[in-house]
Amino acid sequence: MKKRILSCIQPTGDMHLGNYFGAVKNWVDLQAEYDCFYGVVDYHAMTMPYDPKKLKNNVWDLIFNLIGVGVEIDNLFIQSLVPEHAELAWIFNCFTPFGRLGQMTQFKDKSSQSSEKSEGFISAGLFTYPILQAADILIYNADYVPVGKDQEQHLELTRTIAQRFNNQVNKEYFTIPECLFTETPKIMSTADPERKMSKSAGEKHYISVFGEEARIRKQIRSAVTDAGDGSSTSMSPGVQNLFEILKACGADQAYQEMMDTYEKGGLRYGDFKAVVADAVVEMTNTFKERKAEALANKKDIKYKIKQSSAEIRKTAQETIREVKELAGLANVKF
Ligand code: AMP
Ligand code: TRP
Repeated sequence: MKKRILSCIQPTGDMHLGNYFGAVKNWVDLQAEYDCFYGVVDYHAMTMPYDPKKLKNNVWDLIFNLIGVGVEIDNLFIQSLVPEHAELAWIFNCFTPFGRLGQMTQFKDKSSQSSEKSEGFISAGLFTYPILQAADILIYNADYVPVGKDQEQHLELTRTIAQRFNNQVNKEYFTIPECLFTETPKIMSTADPERKMSKSAGEKHYISVFGEEARIRKQIRSAVTDAGDGSSTSMSPGVQNLFEILKACGADQAYQEMMDTYEKGGLRYGDFKAVVADAVVEMTNTFKERKAEALANKKDIKYKIKQSSAEIRKTAQETIREVKELAGLANVKF
């Protein structure tokens, strides 16, 4: 039996080289070895001030982007098409130690962002967000959850909830999930290589995977490096970042050649940037082609995603039935 993996992503905008190499690429690679469930979590996206008119489009956008980079349709689901996540989250509300929620660093960060954006408004959903995340994971009895270090605290809480539930019902019902930390590169902003590539820093700080080729090339061409006069003894963050990107694109030979030239002290940054841009463009063009193919069959693909969500929902319904029974709730047998 293959081990089961679950991971989710919020539909909050563009896919860039940072979150692609840092998270999504890993999803694609893991599909060969594991039984994978990948969710686009629209219920979670409601925890911050948001525009209901845009949410659905953002969800489909992300779905087509994920298909473009190589996530298999059968592994994908939309969270709100599996409403049992929300039902289990309610049940888990009653198994979660209240005090732990206030310690979550993501809550601390995002509550101040929410407050700034929306005249002091902070939703209770933002506070209970990790409980819904626990439901996402436990409803499928996932063994592993591939996430970044920033999510470790949420995973720890998920384990606490699972253990408390198991203790209360006197049964090892839920699998206690583990984080799967895979070696993933941290991609920095090409405009400011001291900070991580991210959407929140503004447009010039991230390279969009599905952006126009000309824009990608321009951003790499104008990437911050250093004077290139050999005055520094260690590699500058900007040059390091470009090497990181080249390696992440899988351009091993070009990477080696460039590194050898760098070590000999003869690397011309203009040439180097052109090589990096070629590698990124070659990779992203493949993704764009696959996305365009999917978009050409938009209706069919949307139907398939609804089907895969319905298929995945069966597992969630089975769990809910058992959980309600164990928790002493009324249950209609079906
Ligand atoms: P975001 O789209 O910013 O919410 O990020 C989704 C996930 O992608 C995060 O949990 C990180 O693990 C990863 N990620 C985002 N930005 C980067 C980056 N610049 N480098 C590496 N990983 C990243
Ligand atoms: N909280 C995660 C993030 O901000 C997204 C997420 C929601 C998630 N549910 C999940 C991740 C379940 C892993 C498993 O990136």
